[in-house]
Amino acid sequence: MKGIILAGGLGTRLWPLTKVTNKHLLPVYNKPMIFYPLEMLVNAGIQDIMVVTGGNNAGDFLRLLGNGKNFGLRHLHYAYQEGEGGIAEALSLTEDFADDQPLCVVLGDNILENSIGPYVEKFQRQGSGAKILLKSVPDPQRFGVPELSEERVVKIHEKPQVAPSKYAVTGVYWYDHRVFDVIRSVERSRRGELEITDVNNCYIEWGEMTYDILEGWWTDAGTLDSLLHANNLVAQAMSEQPSLESEGS
Ligand code: G1P
Repeated sequence: MKGIILAGGLGTRLWPLTKVTNKHLLPVYNKPMIFYPLEMLVNAGIQDIMVVTGGNNAGDFLRLLGNGKNFGLRHLHYAYQEGEGGIAEALSLTEDFADDQPLCVVLGDNILENSIGPYVEKFQRQGSGAKILLKSVPDPQRFGVPELSEERVVKIHEKPQVAPSKYAVTGVYWYDHRVFDVIRSVERSRRGELEITDVNNCYIEWGEMTYDILEGWWTDAGTLDSLLHANNLVAQAMSEQPSLESEGS
């Protein structure tokens, strides 16, 4: 399985923090944001990873991450997204890299408490189709929201005014090789973007989308409030980790 980190976009919801840098280079407690999705993939055993970025600061990703040596990788692959075409457009740039392999796609501003390893294994067993992770949140209308019927996701609604359930679709997705054909078939949304939610709805219509309810905390970090929340969650988690000294004593 190959890993994709989508780290483009203008980060307008964090303006002016993102005026001279990319959102995914901002700090979340003690690390740049992009470290979290990268470690998430590596810790789940995924070694073949591409980062898609864009804007004026793409070179900073190279300087920060290099070939991924500090993350235990031999190579790290990069793609450059011109303009603001949305998450699915960014994903479409990875087609050659993907080489018909199954993909784990992570949004660069998503931070999870626990390993995604168990879900990676589940998708490997699933073999084809797609998979999403849902998390119960207090403000689902900020996200893609699944409409559920008898435990089945029947449709995902992107940032609906009235949320059809209490769940957010998190920014961790699995797809088989057909995802690139699906992206070619979706149309631009009102905001002029190729929406990942439209891609997911296609797999749902085919009856080939599975989901799990994510264990442990999850947050995005794309707004001022969620960035603060992410910092606090990581700080709290770090303070609960036994330090090396106390481990030795
Ligand atoms: C994106 C997706 C949305 C998803 C969210 C998770 O929204 O469009 O469906 O729930 O990521 O972080 P964004 O926050 O990029 O607008």
